[in-house]
Amino acid sequence: MARRLINHILAGTSHILRDPRIELVLERIYSDAQRAADDARAAPSGLPRAADELGDFGYSLRPGQGEFLYLMCRSIGARRVVDFSTSAGATAIYCAAALRDNGAGTVISSDHRKDRRSAARHNLTEAGLIDYVDLRLGNPLDTLRSLPGPVDLAYLDGWPELGAPSLALSVLELIRPGLRPGALVLNDSHEPDYLDHVRDPTSGFRTSVLDFGVLSVVA
Ligand SMILES: C[S@@+](CC[C@H](N)C(=O)[O-])C[C@H]1O[C@@H](n2cnc3c(N)ncnc32)[C@H](O)[C@@H]1O
Repeated sequence: MARRLINHILAGTSHILRDPRIELVLERIYSDAQRAADDARAAPSGLPRAADELGDFGYSLRPGQGEFLYLMCRSIGARRVVDFSTSAGATAIYCAAALRDNGAGTVISSDHRKDRRSAARHNLTEAGLIDYVDLRLGNPLDTLRSLPGPVDLAYLDGWPELGAPSLALSVLELIRPGLRPGALVLNDSHEPDYLDHVRDPTSGFRTSVLDFGVLSVVA
């Protein structure tokens, strides 16, 4: 019998959040993304529609990345997370779920687009997690200048840039004084200047580019 994948993005995820309300919102975010990607492929030009026509569609992190973030936040007992950028709120959802399961905390999440903030607010409210997220609007080099206390984990995921200085590196340098010893920083886009910096032995980071197997955290 032919196997039919309903959603290629969500296929194979473990659904570790174990909360139907959150799962439903993530399902919608990823289904919207899948539909937008399918539409773009079907369009005569092969080009995606303009970003402001995309509604709730956001370029979200992959579910496996979200699950990894959830496990990391649980494992280190995270209370404060920086999320650049918000998009439709998928990263914030995975991290806020971990903070909630840790007992308390705040995800400080920034994007420069009002429509992204509205979409994220909607999604986080639906997921029951809005109280764990501080949504900030504007240039991250302004919005992330003030952080309320030591940061346990940061996820840096703007648009990838080849030029230097990349926004990812600028944001890292901005929030560096607020990162507690042992804080985790994940970068999705592998900007070349960012990689050079975090691999430099004088930068104060220990860094590995990840690619490995099954991870569990004692709940
Ligand atoms: C790959 S998406 C982030 C996905 C997000 N981590 C998630 O999982 O939902 C990239 C985001 O970067 C934001 N962005 C790009 N350039 C930016 C800038 N200069 N300032 C602030 N946000 C920016 C975009 O609005 C977009 O939402």
